[in-house]
Amino acid sequence: MPEQELNINAVRDSFNESLKTARTLQELDDIRVRFTGKKGELTLLLRSLGKLPKEQRKDAGQELNSLRDSIEAELEKTGRKIRDEENEKQELNQRIDVTLPSKGRTMGAFHPVMQTMHEIANIMQGLGYSVAEGPEQEEEFYNFECLNIPSWHPARDMQDTFYFPDGTLLRTHTSPVQIRSMLKYGAPLRIICPGKVYRRDNDTTHSPMFNQMEGLLVDKDVSFSVMKGTMSEMLNAFFGRSLKSRFRASYFPFTEPSMELDIECVECSGHDEHCRVCHGTGWLEVAGMGMVHPNVIRAGKIDPDEYNGFAFGIGLDRMAMLKYGISDLRLLFDGNVSYFMSGFKGAE
Ligand code: PHE
Repeated sequence: MPEQELNINAVRDSFNESLKTARTLQELDDIRVRFTGKKGELTLLLRSLGKLPKEQRKDAGQELNSLRDSIEAELEKTGRKIRDEENEKQELNQRIDVTLPSKGRTMGAFHPVMQTMHEIANIMQGLGYSVAEGPEQEEEFYNFECLNIPSWHPARDMQDTFYFPDGTLLRTHTSPVQIRSMLKYGAPLRIICPGKVYRRDNDTTHSPMFNQMEGLLVDKDVSFSVMKGTMSEMLNAFFGRSLKSRFRASYFPFTEPSMELDIECVECSGHDEHCRVCHGTGWLEVAGMGMVHPNVIRAGKIDPDEYNGFAFGIGLDRMAMLKYGISDLRLLFDGNVSYFMSGFKGAE
């Protein structure tokens, strides 16, 4: 056998062996370079053809050509196989197994205070009130001055205020929206304004941020009884039953006369002297209110000789706690969702 033929067989054998080990396209490419690259084993053989004695050249040439063809065909075939396998693997990885049990998901829900806010807003909208808004960063002018609380007025101490360096403040109540709404819409007017308010207060029953809803009605010949009827209508609708209520004389610079509204204790209706909600008094304070002071109507650029009205400010956090049986104010703000997912009345 001529020397050259042995080499051809050796290259063929070593190619076939290597091919068996190729698992990836990269490995396959390395094999391709090793045999058919510029300095590949097959390439070198082809180059050395010329050095063969003439009579061997033809046969060896044919044999080498057919080896090259079969190497190329094998490389092509194995490449296709590896690509198919890789695609299949990828597909398997990405396939969704619809029989796997789900991880479960937690349902989102409104915060009890937001729920309360929406419920009361709905009731008030049913009575013809529109929702108004005002900024949380407020000017002294709207938060105090226009509400009949000049800078020397002792009532400014009632509301410990967060001030910004530029003299603006975090509104201490939603009442500045009374003024903003009168200036914007004029009379007659019926608005509510739910929103966050801020005071320097922080203990078991006070949070530095809490939620109020302001109400304002301005019209001709508004009587005290309209205010009383509106309040009981709202409270009965909200608690889903008829509750006893009472007015207590109080003081706000922006209403005259001023009142605080108490409702019958939703927990014990006054029958439990150890009641943890009303502490045995039988009554719960829920809102401040009164007939709008003429100075405030005037600050809203409405003629107090022609129009009068009433306003109220209701504590939404308090209302949420009463309706949903939440005992500690701080639970509303500390973000502990599991408490609300488990036991409280609103979760039923
Ligand atoms: N703004 C008062 C408060 O925050 C509540 C109030 C509103 C009282 C409207 C009377 C009328 O305490």
